[in-house]
Amino acid sequence: MSNRLNLTHRPRRLRQNASIRGIVSETSLRPMNLVQPFFMVEGTGVREPISSLPGQFRLSVDELEKAVLKCRDVGIPAIALFPKINDADKSEDAKAAYDDNGLVPMAIKRLKSIVPEVLVIGDIALDPYSSLGQDGIVEDGVILNDETIEVLVQQAICQARAGVDMVAPSDMMDGRIGAIRQGLDKAGFQDVMIMAYSAKYASSFYGPFRDALDSAPRGGADKKTYQMDPANSKEAIYETTLDIEEGADIVMVKPALPYLDIVRDLATSLTTPIAAYHVSGEYAMLKAAALNGWLDDDACMLESLTAIRRAGATMIFTYAALDLCERGLIR
Ligand code: PBG
Repeated sequence: MSNRLNLTHRPRRLRQNASIRGIVSETSLRPMNLVQPFFMVEGTGVREPISSLPGQFRLSVDELEKAVLKCRDVGIPAIALFPKINDADKSEDAKAAYDDNGLVPMAIKRLKSIVPEVLVIGDIALDPYSSLGQDGIVEDGVILNDETIEVLVQQAICQARAGVDMVAPSDMMDGRIGAIRQGLDKAGFQDVMIMAYSAKYASSFYGPFRDALDSAPRGGADKKTYQMDPANSKEAIYETTLDIEEGADIVMVKPALPYLDIVRDLATSLTTPIAAYHVSGEYAMLKAAALNGWLDDDACMLESLTAIRRAGATMIFTYAALDLCERGLIR
């Protein structure tokens, strides 16, 4: 005790108990900051576990409805839908993407009639419907940008007719946000919001998602020809700026943790809300380590999500949303 220094600055004073730590905390993580993604399949009473995403299931619409009611009850404001399409309905032109009787429009109708307060975010991209697992129309090994956009606009209008609140183009074609905005407006859907997957990287962290949807690319083209190069950051500003000029209401960075510098860059240079997608591989890594007894997945998940918020994300897409909120770990 005698050799105690007479320090004026002791940052640890503000860490000595939970109350003071709470009151000086800069970052909040609440249910209202989260979006729960769901995988869907045809049928009734289906809850198919996804082996590379422990705790996640492919749900039929009736099961999806129960899960979305739980989201409402814990205060999660939005969900995102990703369909697993039967092989027989996949084609090179991906025309099932704008079938009014398809899985997604039917689910949107049902959810909006039963749980209208939860926002439904519809994915706009062709990969679940493409027999090649590509986000666009392929010809001679190249994704055709402008031809793809025409299909994406139809897909967005189809979901808008079903009552979707927000469409989220995740395809990375050039000019699709403007075309979708115009298409929606012309069809009378001025209030349907657009969340642009603007800085979507050509990432290897999407593996478990592609297992869940059976949407891994089977030739056709290289996703690196449309998704962003992980080496680049200035391009993220360019892409988001274009998307905002074209009418995006919210922009997204994806994946999240390896790209927190991008989240921060955008949060300091833009005024639009920013979404970050804590993707399937990021979730799977934590679950796999926990199954081996190597990490505390709850603690690591909360730390990851807090870090994503701290970097500047307004909202986070995470597979862990409902589970963490239901167990009171986020409230
Ligand atoms: C494709 C899409 C992907 C994800 C969301 N939309 C994968 C891809 O580009 O192949 C990945 C999400 C995740 O990994 O959780 N439109």
